[in-house]
Amino acid sequence: MIEIVDLYKSFNGTAVLQGMNLVIPTGKITVIIGPSGCGKTVLLRHIIGLWKPDRGKVMLDKVNLSALNRFQLNEIRRRFGMLFQHAALFDSMNVYENVAFPLREHTKKSEREIQNIVVEKLSLVGLSGNEKKMPSDLSGGMRKRVGLARAIALQPEIILYDEPTTGLDPIMTEAIDNLILEMQRKLSITSVVISHDIPSAFRIADQISMVYKGKIIETGTPDVFRNSKKEEVQEFIRKGEGKG
Ligand SMILES: Nc1ncnc2c1ncn2[C@@H]1O[C@H](COP(=O)(O)OP(=O)(O)O)[C@@H](O)[C@H]1O
Ligand SMILES: [Mg+2]
Repeated sequence: MIEIVDLYKSFNGTAVLQGMNLVIPTGKITVIIGPSGCGKTVLLRHIIGLWKPDRGKVMLDKVNLSALNRFQLNEIRRRFGMLFQHAALFDSMNVYENVAFPLREHTKKSEREIQNIVVEKLSLVGLSGNEKKMPSDLSGGMRKRVGLARAIALQPEIILYDEPTTGLDPIMTEAIDNLILEMQRKLSITSVVISHDIPSAFRIADQISMVYKGKIIETGTPDVFRNSKKEEVQEFIRKGEGKG
């Protein structure tokens, strides 16, 4: 379980996180929504311990990430898979090498073992047979899926998705949504999905939280969330559903 306790972070005097509190349940899909620029990515970077908060803490299974040294943090980070907003594939490597990369970096597995894992992960994301393609040959949706195959290569317990469907057409958005659901069901993974896509959030979430002015202002199941009494939540839902 991940627990975010009273988290504060400012950049050059501008407060971004202003006392954020959130519990992320194990084995479930938590979607964090909020307007552009509200601090969702900043929050994500704290969750994997890339950044230290000014105040407050991120607890992973009762361990405060800020209290860890570099070595311990590296160990912890192996438990996370991260799908970055801009898939961030290595352009000079083919699909196979992209997915194999974390295995080469972090394990001493033989080429045979690596190959088995790469083939398995590519099959999970529906990209079997695309090993030799280069990132430049792929559509945006395929790139995201390669990024996802790479993110799950080390069998993470937790996957963080930063705006996985932004910039994708509706069909590809639904395909990625289904993939997130499938990952969670097949691998019993804890998923944290950052999004500003309301229809997508309602489709996949076990729990939805909304960030507004540096705080989590609402958390609940999609039903509870939809019936929130908060004006900001209702407005965000209205706008989002109008778009999609
Ligand atoms: N490395 C950084 N240095 C300075 N300001 C940053 C940095 N990262 C993010 N910010 C600021 O924090 C705010 C929230 O950014 P971000 O978390 O990326 O928003 P979003 O909710 O769209 O993901 C923005 O105003 C952004 O300019
Ligand atoms: Mg962001």
